[in-house]
Amino acid sequence: MNPDQKKSTSHYLAHRRALARRLPDGLILLSGGESVARNADTDYEFRQQSNFLYLCGVDEPGCVLLIDPRRGRQTLFMPRIDNEHRVWLGHVPGPAEARRLYGVERVAYADTLPKELRLARRGYRNIYADKATVKIHRQALQGLRAAPSALDEALCELRACKTPGELALIERASAATAHAHRAVMRAARPGQFEYAAQAIFEAECRKAGLPLLAFPTIAASGTNAAVLHYHRNDARMRAGDLLLLDAGAECRGYAADITRTFPVSGVFTTRQKEVYSIVLQAQNECIALARPGLRSSDLHRHSMRVMAEGLKSLRILRGDTDGLVENGAVRLFYPHGLSHMMGLDVHDTPGGRKRKLRNPFKFTVRFVAKLEPGFVITVEPGLYFIGALLHDAANRRKHRTSVDFGRAERFLDFGGVRIEDDILITARGPARNLTDVPKEIHDVEEACRR
Ligand code: GLY
Ligand code: MN
Ligand code: MN
Repeated sequence: MNPDQKKSTSHYLAHRRALARRLPDGLILLSGGESVARNADTDYEFRQQSNFLYLCGVDEPGCVLLIDPRRGRQTLFMPRIDNEHRVWLGHVPGPAEARRLYGVERVAYADTLPKELRLARRGYRNIYADKATVKIHRQALQGLRAAPSALDEALCELRACKTPGELALIERASAATAHAHRAVMRAARPGQFEYAAQAIFEAECRKAGLPLLAFPTIAASGTNAAVLHYHRNDARMRAGDLLLLDAGAECRGYAADITRTFPVSGVFTTRQKEVYSIVLQAQNECIALARPGLRSSDLHRHSMRVMAEGLKSLRILRGDTDGLVENGAVRLFYPHGLSHMMGLDVHDTPGGRKRKLRNPFKFTVRFVAKLEPGFVITVEPGLYFIGALLHDAANRRKHRTSVDFGRAERFLDFGGVRIEDDILITARGPARNLTDVPKEIHDVEEACRR
């Protein structure tokens, strides 16, 4: 077990109580994750289900949580471990130890669950559980009305605004991730492979006690940076290349998601500075604007306007700025959303039905909601020069008056720039930036030197 697991568990109790208040008229039954076989007797690395982490922080497979709102009772069921298991996998806490570790008032073995369910269901008409769990326990739950989407929806709503206990974990993931990013900036040199940068980043996270990543690391140099989710990380970095590193650790399930783009040789070229400055301006302005009540789509629109202005200054785009945003010309160079929610999942729950707003764009954005205090979101504009978009015949026809394709093609050897910070929306004042990694041009060059 990760020693970090022994830390405070009080926020999990608050989360369970909040869920019980939302679904007071039914039994709540949540299954945790199971080990998944990779082949023969080898399993994939276990990662607990996010909803289960939210409610009790337990990172063992095969557990089930039962909440009985009317009787105010919460029980964690854990698999009964035999000696064979102990021989191969070592110690797994039994009920008494688990009660101390996880702060759940009752802990029992999973094989007693059917009997407990028969007792607990008395006085209820509803069961809030996912379909698979209801199926497993159909005999004990017969006659109760199943409402799987209500459980999902309640958890989605609850998880949107982060509690202080959750923020502490996000901050820890952010601090380790930031430290690891700075280590890569210091160490990267022309001639190294992208996977060397990845290895430094991931080693620093592990050394900080955070062995799991929030998502696969993207270490993309040169033109590879124009592949949005590049994962090969196997190219040699050349003098004059930028390296786009998009990477984050997780702490007890809570993510950090940070991107920096910096020169492998330590100094930006003039052209790199021009493109980088546009992205940085979009990012800084969006972070400054973020506040409760603002729609995420308005922030996204603002970033697209800054990109359009910047691309006009590079003489790649021409025409009215709003027209370039509306007709999709900017999307040829900025083909992703500005922002997503972040928490137990790197692309976290968008906050449930009641927060969902109409998407004002013709294209997909990750979430559209009014920002609220307690939201943790990323702000991650990017500019890329992508052959697949710039050579596409339909794009060239549609945008022939807005885009100087000849000039844009001269940037096809550029790759791309993305800058990504994680911010907390606060009730008053500006959003709090949780990301402490240099990003102003001078500071990045300084960080690469040391
Ligand atoms: N690392 C994936 C993303 O930035 O959304
Ligand atoms: Mn992101
Ligand atoms: Mn990212």
